[in-house]
Amino acid sequence: MLRKIALGAALLMAIAASPALAAGEAGHTEDVSFNFEGPFGTYDRHQLQRGLQVWTEVCSACHGMKFVPIRSLADEGGPQLPEDQVRAYAAQFDIFDPALDDTRARTPNDMFPSSSMPNAPDLSLMAKARAGFHGPYGTGLSQLFNGIGGPEHIHAILTGYTGETKDEAGNTFYENHAFSTGWIAMPPPLSDGQVEFADGSPNDLDHMAMDVAAFLMWAAEPHMMARKQAGFVAVIFLGVFSVLLYLTNKRLWAGVKGKKKHA
Ligand code: HEC
Repeated sequence: MLRKIALGAALLMAIAASPALAAGEAGHTEDVSFNFEGPFGTYDRHQLQRGLQVWTEVCSACHGMKFVPIRSLADEGGPQLPEDQVRAYAAQFDIFDPALDDTRARTPNDMFPSSSMPNAPDLSLMAKARAGFHGPYGTGLSQLFNGIGGPEHIHAILTGYTGETKDEAGNTFYENHAFSTGWIAMPPPLSDGQVEFADGSPNDLDHMAMDVAAFLMWAAEPHMMARKQAGFVAVIFLGVFSVLLYLTNKRLWAGVKGKKKHA
C-alpha cells in the first residue's frame, strides 16, 4: 500500500517537473511573486486600485467584465474604494434599462460592461480560467508546484510580445511567446508609461502588467482572503479536535489497558 502511494507521488512529481507538460509547446510564463500568494497572502489594496485604473483606461476599450458587480469595488479585501467614488465610477458607463426603455447611467448595483469588441473575451474569470496557465489544456500542476497560475499567465501575455506581426485572411496577428499558438489577435495593449498613477507608482510595462493581473485575480476570486481564513480556522480546529480525541480515547481505554498489563 505504502509503496503504491510512494509510486503515485513520484509519478505526479515527474509529470509536474517534466518540461514537456510544464512548459507546453509555445507559451512561456515566468513566476511573479504576488502579495496574495501563500497561505497568509492578502490582496494589496493599492495594487488593486492601480490595476483598476489600467483596466479602465486601457483594457475596457475592448474587454468586458460582465460577471463582476461594480459595488464590489467597495468591498473589504478588494480595492476598497469609498462609496461615493464607486457611485461616480459606475455612472461613467451607460446601460440599457428595459424598465425605462431607455439608457441610463449605471449604479453600483449594475455589473461592469460586457466586451465591446466581439472577439475580445470577457475577463471576469480569466485569471481562474487560465489557472493551469497553458491555455485551457493546462494541467494546473504548475500552479500547485511552482505557484504559477492565471495572474502569471496574464502578466506573461501582456509582456510577451516580440514586435512581429503577420496578416492572415484579413486579420492581423501579433507574435506573443506566452500565447498558446504563439500568435494572438490582441494588439499589444500596454507600453511603458502609458498610464499615470496618482501616487507616482512605477508605470513601466512590467509593473502595470502585474497590477492589472492582480486586479483580474481579485475580480475572479474576490473572497480569496476569507476562504484562506476559513481554511486556517478549520486546520486549527481539526488540530485541537485530534488532541482531544486522542486524550479521550486514552482515558476510555485506560482501565482495560491497565488490567492487561497486570495480568
Ligand atoms: C484593441 C482591443 C484590446 C485591448 C485594448 C485589450 N485586449 Fe486583450 N484581447 C483582445 C482580443 C481580440 C483577444 C483575443 C485574442 C485571441 O484569441 O487571439 C484578447 C485576449 C486577451 C486575453 C486572453 C489570452 C488567452 O490566454 O486566451 C487576456 C488575458 C487579455 N486579452 C488581457 C488584456 C488586458 C489585461 C488588457 C489591458 C491591459 C487588454 N487585454 C487589452 C483585444 C484587446
